Amino acid sequence: MDSFLIHGGYRLKGKIEISGSKNSALPILAACLMAEGKTTLKGVPRLSDIDSMNKLIGELGCHIYRHEPAEKTVGDGPNLNGPLDLEVRDETQCEARYDIVKTMRASICVLGPLLAKRGKAIVSIPGGCAIGDRPVDLHVRGLQKLGAEFRTENGNIVGEVRGRLKGCRMYLGGAQGPTVLGTINVMCAAALADGETVLVGAACEPEVVDCAEMLNKMGAKIKGHGTPEIRIEGVDKLTGCEHRIIPDRIECGTFMIAAAITNGELELKHCNLDHLIAVTDRLDEVGVKTVRENGTIFVSSTRRLNPVEMTTQPYPGFPTDLQAQLMALLCLADGMSVITERIFPDRFLHVGELNRMGGRIRKEGATAVIQGVKELQGASVMASDLRASAALVLAGLVAKGTTRIDRVYHIDRGYEKIEQKLVAVGAQIERIKETKAVA
Ligand code: EPZ
Repeated sequence: MDSFLIHGGYRLKGKIEISGSKNSALPILAACLMAEGKTTLKGVPRLSDIDSMNKLIGELGCHIYRHEPAEKTVGDGPNLNGPLDLEVRDETQCEARYDIVKTMRASICVLGPLLAKRGKAIVSIPGGCAIGDRPVDLHVRGLQKLGAEFRTENGNIVGEVRGRLKGCRMYLGGAQGPTVLGTINVMCAAALADGETVLVGAACEPEVVDCAEMLNKMGAKIKGHGTPEIRIEGVDKLTGCEHRIIPDRIECGTFMIAAAITNGELELKHCNLDHLIAVTDRLDEVGVKTVRENGTIFVSSTRRLNPVEMTTQPYPGFPTDLQAQLMALLCLADGMSVITERIFPDRFLHVGELNRMGGRIRKEGATAVIQGVKELQGASVMASDLRASAALVLAGLVAKGTTRIDRVYHIDRGYEKIEQKLVAVGAQIERIKETKAVA
């Protein structure tokens, strides 16, 4: 397992190109299982979670080809990677194996597409994970309302459809509010169902909108995406299309905080500030300035960071996926901040590690109270999940001395070329390969 060594204290300055969104690309790749003919996706980031999804849809009969990147950025977005061509050539397999599901919970996204297109799906039940219990009951309930029948067999969800799924009006929210991947799963299935489906209490995240827009290019009839009520008029078939994945708002937010925590100045290219309105609102109060010019965001901060209160919420609220990173920043604020986690109340594994670096954070249930300190110190810390690991990288960038972060495979799941991007703007960060780390 690779580690990062970070020598802290360097001000970041320069340009970073934001990658395509991991959380948009994953369900979109799964949705491609429903299309006939070739689909071309641009902006799919190179990440281990994307490799896992490609492996899964590959096992489900989808042929995937990645083109070489174009020489320089042209037209409508970044060209860090070449486009992906996808085409389903065999529809006989219907199983998402535990081996893949256990490495990536987003595997559940094949459930709706498989049921709608192939009439059967066997998906291993995802277990708990580092950010808490992550049930899939809302996905199953929504698909049941469309007429799928489910049973549990040897740790798998087995779903079957007699004939065709049937559209209906349903409420999709749960105890913690809407579900992002659940909305996408049911929306995908409804795109090929008989008649109209209305999803009430749907998630409004940009990733839901991106998937709906791709499905519409494939011939689906979806309206209201981006609002809590999505209307889907079922169609008989979907055909391949060309689509560019939206920029990764969480990667962008992480680099905004990297600029702020190092008192630096970053120019973040190819991003959509509209997707980050709650984040810029909080950062503005902290003293971080963001200026937008077309698809570029310029981020700079004042030396003094103000403490703030923040509660994670479904979109357009502050995203849970940036909670840990904001906490790292608030460790250095001038006073006491309060963060409450409403989406995943146990998502606080970074608290102990930030405290090892000199943070003063006290957790009370789903709330963390952060007393700002003058400086953080380098330490050996452990990456526990994707965003917690990003928070440790941010803390390492500003900490006095050297920080060693073990188990950075968590970061590789969701941040494309993170150390290259940071080194290019002045960070001192080095990847220690597993063999060297052990020696
Ligand atoms: C997506 O997960 C993202 N994953 C997560 O990003 C993100 O944290 C989360 O949305 C919230 O924004 C991907 O897009 C691949 P949810 P998802 O269903 O869809 C409860 C990252 O770091 N719930 O919106 O699985 C659930 O427990 C990751 O990139 C049910 O109760 O999250 C939570 O409290 C981690 N039953 C709330 O709903 C269900 O069936 C919202 O979860 C489903 C969810």
